[in-house]
Amino acid sequence: MTAYEPLVLPPRPTPPPLGAVQEEVLALKRERNAVILAHNYQNEEIQRVADFVGDSLGLSYQAQAAKADVILFCGVHFMAETAKIVNPGRTVLLPDLAAGCSLADSCPAERLAAHKAAHPGLYVVAYINCSAAVKALSDVIVTSGNAQRIVQRVPADREILFVPDQNLGQWVAKKTGRAMHLWPGSCYAHVLFTTQAIERVRMRFPDAPVVAHPECVEAVRDLADEVCSTELMVKFARESTAQTIIVVTESGMLHRLRREVPEKTFVAGPTDTCACNDCRFMKMNTIEKVRDALKFMRPAIEVPEDIRLAALAPIQRMLDWSR
Ligand code: 13P
Ligand code: SF4
Repeated sequence: MTAYEPLVLPPRPTPPPLGAVQEEVLALKRERNAVILAHNYQNEEIQRVADFVGDSLGLSYQAQAAKADVILFCGVHFMAETAKIVNPGRTVLLPDLAAGCSLADSCPAERLAAHKAAHPGLYVVAYINCSAAVKALSDVIVTSGNAQRIVQRVPADREILFVPDQNLGQWVAKKTGRAMHLWPGSCYAHVLFTTQAIERVRMRFPDAPVVAHPECVEAVRDLADEVCSTELMVKFARESTAQTIIVVTESGMLHRLRREVPEKTFVAGPTDTCACNDCRFMKMNTIEKVRDALKFMRPAIEVPEDIRLAALAPIQRMLDWSR
């Protein structure tokens, strides 16, 4: 027995009007000549004032192409840092500087440098969820949206080390047939999804397909009907003939899905203890902090130029290889 009811977002053809703080944000955005980029895991209030909402790959392209004076990045630290790396001439703001990522933290640059020194010749494929210093030590960056494509382009004679997410790495290795050494990191939020919890919610919605993020553990990925990046979940929801879809990733994703596919019902993937799963880092950003960031023009992201240039090379390789 579970102690919670499933979290269900039914169809909602018309969203409610914007609130006063959201209107303030839009006015400040014009005043500062800012563009607001938001990840799919941001809360609904933030997503609704953003110019672009997407996954890590889409956001990287948007950040690089941004012409506005200010990029207000509503996501976590490594995402805002990536924006600064690809577009250093802009002021990049992050609403809460403490919005980190457990996955990025699981791979400190010093440990990666020591590992590379002990195992020379490794080709380092780094998931974008890592620090600028780790990117600077890598050969190519991937996101969940392009990892398979990018790994297939790594020269066949090179031994690959995949950092820092062992679950995404394992998924890519299986899909591409390419052997890889896996760094023992994981996303604290996605590993909370269990097969028991997903099977329980599936019994309540037997006709609903399950779509899961590749950061989930293998047993959960194996029971899913589709495993993909957050952006590809939108495509899956649009194209599926099902009326109800179970979404096994961070719960902010449900807001994006409801906006893009308003005629369908979305059920949050539960954990063993909760009906949905929030990333505590993503949810540090609030609409008030978004307003204050634009009002006071801080906190701003800075990356030392030597690290920025070293990190730009593998990011640019990814952007070029995934066009
Ligand atoms: P996506 O690039 O699929 O949006 O994933 C980002 C992320 O942090 C997942 O936890
Ligand atoms: Fe990092 Fe996991 Fe949060 Fe994504 S959901 S930002 S991987 S801690």
